[in-house]
Amino acid sequence: MLKQNVYEIDRNYRIAKDICVMVLKGADHGFTRPGQFANVKLNGLYLRRPISVCDYNQDQFTLMYKTVGIGTEQMSRMKAGETVDVLTGLGNGYDVDKSGDKPLLIAGGSGVPPMYKLAKTLVEQGKNVCCALGFNSAEDVYLLEELKALGAAVFVSTVDGSSDIKGFVTDAIAAAPQDRSFFYTCGPLPMYRAVRQILQTEGQYSFEERMGCGFGACMGCSMMTRSGAKRICKDGPVFDSSEIIWEELK
Ligand SMILES: Cc1cc2nc3c(=O)[nH]c(=O)nc-3n(C[C@H](O)[C@H](O)[C@H](O)COP(=O)(O)OP(=O)(O)OC[C@H]3O[C@@H](n4cnc5c(N)ncnc54)[C@H](O)[C@@H]3O)c2cc1C
Ligand code: FES
Repeated sequence: MLKQNVYEIDRNYRIAKDICVMVLKGADHGFTRPGQFANVKLNGLYLRRPISVCDYNQDQFTLMYKTVGIGTEQMSRMKAGETVDVLTGLGNGYDVDKSGDKPLLIAGGSGVPPMYKLAKTLVEQGKNVCCALGFNSAEDVYLLEELKALGAAVFVSTVDGSSDIKGFVTDAIAAAPQDRSFFYTCGPLPMYRAVRQILQTEGQYSFEERMGCGFGACMGCSMMTRSGAKRICKDGPVFDSSEIIWEELK
């Protein structure tokens, strides 16, 4: 459920090259499903910046973000005790009821954060969770140990071969057990175009579109699906594979 609150930063720290974690205190955050997102208000910037919820519990929620530009750089400089205005509980999130017994979680680059809460939820339900993650280089790899600590099997690819499997996330998928029941994925569109060629089950894709309002009011994020035009921020960002019209995506 959409909420707007001013949250106090509990911790904000770097965990890999260009990747930071911000933990915000607050019980009333409205997150109910992995794959939902927050929209963060930053000083001097008209548009909020959408960031997936990486984890949440009764007392706090965690955002994990890559510093790519003016907004995320500003976030990375914020200190514990400072406050930040955040819209929370946005988007539909992943449907964990569709996972079957052996879900495969696939992510690349800044698509990795939402996989943490998703993996945690599925492991808690007794599912055999396997992750395939793609990065550019060893120094970009993050969340690997945390996902393993949950009990997930994790296969990692790096484009330059400096860690694990050399290649793309498709190579990590190829190395993972092939008996998967369902997939969940988060990453850029070129990655989706590549992975869909080799995936053998139904699944869900999360779309990262640039957003205006983030809660369904401006129509700035619409996408044509098999059941009509949808707003990525409100009807998505997660869509079933059967809903997607690949020829329509730019
Ligand atoms: C639903 C959703 C969930 C997201 N979750 C995460 C997350 O968990 N962690 C994370 O690191 N990032 C996430 N992103 C991407 C994040 O919103 C952008 O990286 C961020 O807004 C960039 O802001 P900036 O001011 O630092 O960069 P800008 O200065 O605005 O732009 C810098 C670069 O980032 C690109 N960019 C800007 N906004 C987006 C966007 N919305 N999607 C893709 N590329 C963008 C620009 O094209 C440009 O190349 C998510 C985006 C969406 C829509
Ligand atoms: S960003 Fe405004 S409707 Fe989606």
